[in-house]
Amino acid sequence: MYLESVRLLEFRNYERLTLAPSPKLNVLIGENAAGKTNVLEALFLCALGRSHRTRHDGELIRYGKNNASVSLELKKRSGSHSICCRLDSELGKELKADGKPLSRSGELLGLLHVVMFSPEDLKLIKQGPSERRRYIDMGLSQLKPSYYYCLQQYNQGLRQRNALLKTGRAHKDTLAPWDEQLSRLGGRISCLRQEFIKAHSKEAEKLHKSLSGGRETLYVKYLPSIKEHGADYEAALKEAFALNLERDKAIGSTSAGPHRDDVLLELDGRDVRAFGSQGQQRTAALSLKLSELALIKSLTKDTPVLLLDDVLSELDCFRQQQLIELLKDTQVFLTATELFGLRGLDMAVYKVKDGVLSPCGSNQA
Ligand SMILES: Nc1ncnc2c1ncn2[C@@H]1O[C@H](COP(=O)(O)OP(=O)(O)OP(=O)(O)O)[C@@H](O)[C@H]1O
Ligand SMILES: [Mg+2]
Repeated sequence: MYLESVRLLEFRNYERLTLAPSPKLNVLIGENAAGKTNVLEALFLCALGRSHRTRHDGELIRYGKNNASVSLELKKRSGSHSICCRLDSELGKELKADGKPLSRSGELLGLLHVVMFSPEDLKLIKQGPSERRRYIDMGLSQLKPSYYYCLQQYNQGLRQRNALLKTGRAHKDTLAPWDEQLSRLGGRISCLRQEFIKAHSKEAEKLHKSLSGGRETLYVKYLPSIKEHGADYEAALKEAFALNLERDKAIGSTSAGPHRDDVLLELDGRDVRAFGSQGQQRTAALSLKLSELALIKSLTKDTPVLLLDDVLSELDCFRQQQLIELLKDTQVFLTATELFGLRGLDMAVYKVKDGVLSPCGSNQA
C-alpha cells in the first residue's frame, strides 16, 4: 500500500502542507526542529489514531489555534481509501474513514498499516529487559487483541499477589488462588511471546546479515526467567512460586514470571547491549523492527508504509545503501539532517524548514 496524498492543516508547526509523495522512497531533509518528525507523526496518527510520542492530542494542534487536521488518500491492493483525523481543542478527536465517522480509534486499525522506527526504538537494545518486553507486548497486542487482555489480567493479579506479599499475611493458602491464576495466564503469555520472537527472529537475523553485508550474525531468542522449564511453563511457574515463597515474602514482590523475562540479542555470540558498537546496535534494532514489516506483509498480503525517523546517522554508507536496497518495494518516509550516502538513488527529496516542505526533485545527486 502507499499514500497518494497527504494534507496537514494547523498540525504542529505546519500551517498548511499538501504533498503527493512518491510510492517509493521519500526523503525529508532539514535541520533540527524543522518539522520532519512532525510529518511522520501525522501519518502515524492516521494509522493508529494516536501520536507515537504523546498521549495528549492537544499538543498536535498548532500553537494558538483551536483545531488541526490530517487527511490522507491511500492506495491498497483492495482499492483506494481516505482517512481524515480532525483534532479540536474542545471537541477532541474525530476520525473518518472513506468519509464515514468512526466511533472509536480501534476501528481505524487495519486500514493503513505503518511501521515506525524512531530513535526511541534504540531503547530496545540499549536499555533493560522491560523495554524488550514492551516491544513484544505492543507487537503482539496489535496482532492478537486477546493477548492484550491476558496481559492486563496477569498484571492485575500480579499487583494483588505483590500487595499480599507485602502485608506479611502471605502463606501457601492465601497465595494459592493467585498462584493458580498467574501460572495459567503467565504460561499463555510466555508461550505467545516465544512464538512471536520465533516468527520475528528468522527474518531479523536475515535482515541483519544483509544490512551488514554478511559480516555479522544476529541471534535472537526469548529468555524466560525460569530456566529449564521445558514445554510446560505453567507447571514450572507454579513450582517456582512455591520455591521462591520465602524470598518473595522477604522482598515483597514476585521474583519469577513473564514480568521478569527478557529477549537475548547476540551478535556473533556476544551480547549486543554490552559489546555492540552504536552502528551495530542500530542495525540490530532496525532489523528487529523491519522484521515486523515482513510479518505484516505476510499476514495482510500488502506492504505497510515505513516511517524511518533519523535512522541514517549512525550507519555507514554501505549499511545505508543496503537499507534502501532492501526497501525498494516499500513506500518509505525517511527523515535526516543531510543526505549522507543516499545520493544518486531513485527517490523524492523534500527540504523542510520551519514547517514548510519544498520538493527538490527526484534522483538528487
Ligand atoms: N503544537 C505545535 N505548534 C507549533 N509548533 C510546534 C508544535 N509542536 C511542536 N512544534 C515545533 O515543531 C518543531 C519540532 O518539529 P520536529 O520534531 O518535527 O523536528 P525535526 O525536524 O524532526 O527535528 P530533529 O532533527 O531535531 O529531530 C519544534 O520547533 C517545535 O517547537
Ligand atoms: Mg525529528
